[in-house]
Amino acid sequence: MKVLILYYSGTGNTKFACEVAGLAIERAGHDVTMTTYEKAGDVRLEDFDLYCFAAPVYEWAPARNVERFVRSIPALEGRRAFIVTSSAGATGQATPLFARMLEDRGLTVLGDHNLICPDSWGGTRRWSAPHDAETPTPESVRELAEFTDSMLEHACALEDGRAVSLPAYRVLPTGLFLLSRLTRAPGRWPRLKMGRKRVDESACTRCGVCVKNCPAGAIALDPYPAFGRGCIACWRCINTCPVDCITTIIDSDTHYKGITERERLLREAGL
Ligand SMILES: Cc1cc2nc3c(=O)[nH]c(=O)nc-3n(C[C@H](O)[C@H](O)[C@H](O)COP(=O)(O)O)c2cc1C
Ligand code: SF4
Ligand code: SF4
Repeated sequence: MKVLILYYSGTGNTKFACEVAGLAIERAGHDVTMTTYEKAGDVRLEDFDLYCFAAPVYEWAPARNVERFVRSIPALEGRRAFIVTSSAGATGQATPLFARMLEDRGLTVLGDHNLICPDSWGGTRRWSAPHDAETPTPESVRELAEFTDSMLEHACALEDGRAVSLPAYRVLPTGLFLLSRLTRAPGRWPRLKMGRKRVDESACTRCGVCVKNCPAGAIALDPYPAFGRGCIACWRCINTCPVDCITTIIDSDTHYKGITERERLLREAGL
């Protein structure tokens, strides 16, 4: 099979999860292509037999820019997909929301898996001690690889006309679901929840990393970063600034810089 992995990753956790899935796919003898949603225009979506759609969980739902991308792709009627998410452990309605979005594009969703990773949201990092070294574990990485194997088996079984039991996804109208919709409402206030972003101009090197990394194209160098109305409050600029000079009133002392033990985790997970 030809498998396409599509992902967005603010600080590298979801990318790591996709690398694990990609290694499992290669190990099973299939072709894998991995690309970001931003660069999805470089591949022909209809050339693939199976898709992995991946996203970080932001506010109990797939990241807002991923929601936008999935809603904009052409229908892939009758094709098969599986879902990989990464979160700090509170997924809310992210999985059924993601699955229903894919089903709306004509895809059959074979299954889903969440990899628990360090928290990249400044608020929780401020109010609770970040446990960056504790997740993911070699066991959770191995579980993700085994999940990927099972998705490949399901896809092959369906291809051969064999019966496979498919999950049924239903979005429940819980409080967290309503909150996740509220944070995505149009207008100013969804981004006010992260507080006004301030730049320490004496530390800023005007390197442009924040401009390049902003998934919403909401930052202009003028001559220092200025944040526009398109901001989707994803914290990526704050986390990835090389000199940590963007802050907000609810910010934490330590910005999340990504998984540090990639090689060890892969080795100990047998990948
Ligand atoms: C704006 C924002 C909102 C988040 N909301 C949630 C959440 O609702 N539940 C959760 O478990 N983790 C949440 N997180 C943590 C991320 O899901 C987690 O760190 C994820 O692995 C980040 O993946 P990435 O590095 O690929 O962006 C949030 C992080 C950010 C930046
Ligand atoms: S990434 Fe940081 S240092 Fe670079 S331009 Fe943006 S705010 Fe300035
Ligand atoms: S300005 Fe920062 S927080 Fe807002 S969308 Fe861009 S990277 Fe995310």
